[in-house]
Amino acid sequence: MKLVLFFMLIFSTYSFAQSGHDHAADAKTDHQHGDMHKGDHHGGAHGGHHPADKNALKQFFEPLPASIIDEKKNEALIKLGKKLYLDPRLSINDKIACNSCHQLDNFGVDGQPTSPGHEGKRGGRNSPTTMNAALHIAQFWDGRAKDVEEQALGPILNPIEMGMPNEGAVVDKLKKIDEYKGLFDEAFKGEKDPIQYKNVGKAIGAFERTLLTPSRFDDYLNGNESALNDSEKRGLHKFMHMGCATCHNGVAIGGNSYKKIGVVESYDTKDMGRFEVTGIETDKKVFKVPSLRNITKTGPYFHDGSVSTLDEAIRLMAKHQLGREVGPGFTDDVKAFLGSLTSKSAK
Ligand code: HEC
Ligand code: HEC
Repeated sequence: MKLVLFFMLIFSTYSFAQSGHDHAADAKTDHQHGDMHKGDHHGGAHGGHHPADKNALKQFFEPLPASIIDEKKNEALIKLGKKLYLDPRLSINDKIACNSCHQLDNFGVDGQPTSPGHEGKRGGRNSPTTMNAALHIAQFWDGRAKDVEEQALGPILNPIEMGMPNEGAVVDKLKKIDEYKGLFDEAFKGEKDPIQYKNVGKAIGAFERTLLTPSRFDDYLNGNESALNDSEKRGLHKFMHMGCATCHNGVAIGGNSYKKIGVVESYDTKDMGRFEVTGIETDKKVFKVPSLRNITKTGPYFHDGSVSTLDEAIRLMAKHQLGREVGPGFTDDVKAFLGSLTSKSAK
């Protein structure tokens, strides 16, 4: 049943993406549109109340589900996963945990362009947030891991992240820590030898599935018109009509497709993205479209963390993905809208 809904969503966003091209072409007259609407019966600062917008809204976006894992049934597994996520002993020098680069109290990021791992070594990519990541079609900027369970097993053995030499060394280390015995037994009831490498991934993945961050935009999608203010509504309208939503859509406002960076105007980067996974020529500079949930809090931006402000990220997107030059009127409103995607539990 879930799967059917999922395909329906993919299909509807896909077909909309097709007609979305018309929007992108249309978008050239965006300013006239804006002015025209000012004079119509909707009044001035309505932003986003057009009936047509409402349908488009449903085509493009979906509110977060309450949950994507049975948290009661998996209580022990999730508890173990959280402990592992926070535990620097999963790294060779006992210093680096998942939480070092994906901080739970900082929207799942470390706020750095690239992250220092074992011995301060850095990779070429920005740490994406773990918040809502379980909803994505696949994990990493290039989608090389199929889900959060598989993904979690990568960094532990990565020499520039947590630096453990091999799976056996991780298992041996965990077996020497008393408290893990009980936790694994509880989480993997009935398994003879539950402290196994793949179970580490299962537990961390289960915990990551609880990292959903409902926002005011979800309230809006669920019918609460006053959940967004006027500037946020204007930003949403612009986000849809300029064509941003042809790529950033679905339940995570992104995370559900792969697209090239520089579709209209070439973008300069050495990172070949998905090409390194598939070897397909047309996958050069193709990346997973990032989710924009919590985006005002997860800078710096882009796969290499080279873009320090959200204004600049929005401007570059308009230019390279849509061939449009935009000014502060656009970036301010779109930034306001993106702010409504921030977790409601954030202070
Ligand atoms: C040293 C910093 C560092 C540590 C430690 C680290 N990560 Fe990451 N993480 C990254 C970077 C950088 C990426 C992006 C790499 C890429 O796409 O090639 C990433 C990607 C991810 C993603 C993919 C998210 C997405 O949107 O695609 C998840 C999930 C994740 N990490 C979870 C974890 C977990 C779980 C751990 C602990 C087992 C962990 N990370 C440890 C830096 C780190
Ligand atoms: C053709 C698809 C496409 C369109 C259209 C598009 N984007 Fe993107 N967007 C992407 C991809 C792919 C990335 C990742 C780029 C990278 O890191 O190299 C991205 C990255 C971003 C980021 C940075 C995310 C992060 O975590 O670093 C923001 C913000 C963003 N887009 C906003 C927008 C806005 C606003 C618009 C409309 C003006 C837009 N995008 C239009 C595909 C698209």
